[in-house]
Amino acid sequence: MTYKLLFVCLGNICRSPAAENIMNHLIQEKGLENVIFCDSAGTSNYHIGYPPDQRMISTLKSRNLPTQGQARQFEVSDFTEFDLILAMDTSNYQSILSLDVQGSYQDKVKLMCDFATRHSFKEVPDPYFGGDAGFNTVVDLLLDSCEGLLDYVLRQKNISRFN
Ligand code: 4NP
Repeated sequence: MTYKLLFVCLGNICRSPAAENIMNHLIQEKGLENVIFCDSAGTSNYHIGYPPDQRMISTLKSRNLPTQGQARQFEVSDFTEFDLILAMDTSNYQSILSLDVQGSYQDKVKLMCDFATRHSFKEVPDPYFGGDAGFNTVVDLLLDSCEGLLDYVLRQKNISRFN
């Protein structure tokens, strides 16, 4: 069965689509396309239907990373649809958990930075109101976090034989 990952930020135009694209890039490199599926969503409805922010597209392109995406809002059915939900910051994390009224899915929701091994950030900083440096920091941090996350998923699924 495919293991399904959902990356979540506020707008679904900067951090979470970057995480989805970076993770898909790593998955493709390892030939795991049929093993792990990725999607992303925003806790807000601000940018529904929009592609990733042009500044994030430029930053991803400068690293030869893919730039797919069309923003959507997180919905309660995502709790059952996905195996793991990765929040970019603690505000996103709280927003997601507030929709889990029975507290049934808390174990599925994790902070993305907890998977980083080379950075000590606790959250992926929101780059929206800042300059280019912020977008580069986000991509550096997500590359680190996605590598750690991929190792975690492969261990969880005991599918290291695909490495
Ligand atoms: P994201 O960035 O949550 O990483 O997609 C943001 C995008 C839009 C807004 C804030 C953050 N906004 O306030 O519109």
